[in-house]
Amino acid sequence: MLLFNENKTQKGLKDLSSREDVFLLVSSFYAKVRKSPEIGDFFNQTITNWEEHISKLTDFWETNLFFRVRYKGNPPKVHQQVDENFDNRLTQEHFGHWLQLWVQTVDELFEGEKAMAAKARARKMATFLFMRIFSARKK
Ligand code: HEM
Repeated sequence: MLLFNENKTQKGLKDLSSREDVFLLVSSFYAKVRKSPEIGDFFNQTITNWEEHISKLTDFWETNLFFRVRYKGNPPKVHQQVDENFDNRLTQEHFGHWLQLWVQTVDELFEGEKAMAAKARARKMATFLFMRIFSARKK
């Protein structure tokens, strides 16, 4: 599994620099997620309005990468709810698949400082979210 492939040669791709870039990244990522045999169901059974979800996630990543504050939500709370809705079946492996698809999508489309930041932040956030889900279960 290629999660940490920062050492490969440059491919001449541009870096992320606008909301349009972030939108392309997020929509391409969710196109893969929806087809994923490992994690697709969590999303397909929860999200009814994909346009709204993709727009929200574009806000989230724009806020994260460019510090333009557009997203104001509570991801730990939302993911605890998702875990509860699926009878606490979310595992680290699911987060691993999520991350693999994210890294793959970033690498297919972009390269540079922001592309690296998008991968690094997702790794941190995946760890943090899973820890929050796990500790919420014990209560
Ligand atoms: C296996 C891992 C994951 C699963 C199954 C998952 C699932 C979901 C689902 C089903 C929603 C929609 C919830 C709803 O509309 O009710 C959602 C929202 C969201 N996810 Fe994830 N997610 C995962 C990992 C991540 C990671 C690693 C990040 C960040 C790097 C992330 C960021 C978000 C954000 C920002 C939202 C929107 C929250 C809001 O409504 O404000 N997710 N996720």
